[in-house]
Amino acid sequence: MTADGIRGRIALVAGSSGGLGAPIVAALRAAGARVGGLDVRAPERVGESPDEVFVPCDIGDERAVSDAVTRVESALGGTPSILVNCAAVVARCGLEETAGEWDDALRVNLTGAFYLVRRVIGGMRDAGYGRIVQLASIVTETGGSGNVAAYAASKAGLVGLAKAVAVEFAAAGVTSNVVSPAWIESGMFSVPGAVPEKVPVRRMGAPADVVAAVQYLVSPAAGFVTGQVIHVNGGLRFG
Ligand SMILES: NC(=O)c1ccc[n+]([C@@H]2O[C@H](COP(=O)([O-])OP(=O)(O)OC[C@H]3O[C@@H](n4cnc5c(N)ncnc54)[C@H](O)[C@@H]3O)[C@@H](O)[C@H]2O)c1
Repeated sequence: MTADGIRGRIALVAGSSGGLGAPIVAALRAAGARVGGLDVRAPERVGESPDEVFVPCDIGDERAVSDAVTRVESALGGTPSILVNCAAVVARCGLEETAGEWDDALRVNLTGAFYLVRRVIGGMRDAGYGRIVQLASIVTETGGSGNVAAYAASKAGLVGLAKAVAVEFAAAGVTSNVVSPAWIESGMFSVPGAVPEKVPVRRMGAPADVVAAVQYLVSPAAGFVTGQVIHVNGGLRFG
């Protein structure tokens, strides 16, 4: 990740322990950002540098999000100007069996994203600068391959949220975009040894493919790009 315009900024990464969240944290740190990671799985620890802090947090709990961001702000000495939300759960069950799974997917994947944005947007607006990136999924285009109604609905809602935030805060210098991956070789949908013959580029995606899209969208250079969905899927679906 280029350090241009990233160095010294405070970035909040939700889902920071995940297959994509962890390399996004590493890339932001390499570019000189100070990073606060939130994850329900992460043990609380101060990172290897004073410019990095990880706070356990369930993003589906608004009070927990607010408290965790306050702890990040106090540890890093300022408010986030970058938010990358990689936190998600995937519920795999048939529509007729979906009950708690529906509530959980909507609570974490959609309402959690809303809580994160609501918590950081004031600081971005006041600073006249902000970069928000939400991670969605190809299922918003395809509906998935079965048994992912709750996940697909939550991710489609996330795209709508990102676009609405883009409209509402464009004049305040805040961009809001979506990166929509598929067939990435690590993380929640990893299929070890898969031969992705149906992927036009004939390979699995790497976390670095997703990181590259995120790094562009969080950069100052992307200030004229907002409300967009960048598909990182090897050409499986066009936006
Ligand atoms: N990896 C892929 O192939 C792929 C494909 C399509 C979309 N995505 C999307 O990319 C994003 C990152 O996916 P990933 O592959 O890193 O998944 P992952 O499962 O490796 O990481 C998700 C992280 O979110 C955290 N999390 C779950 N519930 C949480 C909660 N309530 N509060 C806070 N953190 C919570 C988990 O602990 C985990 O660390 C997700 O939004 C996912 O839907 C990934």
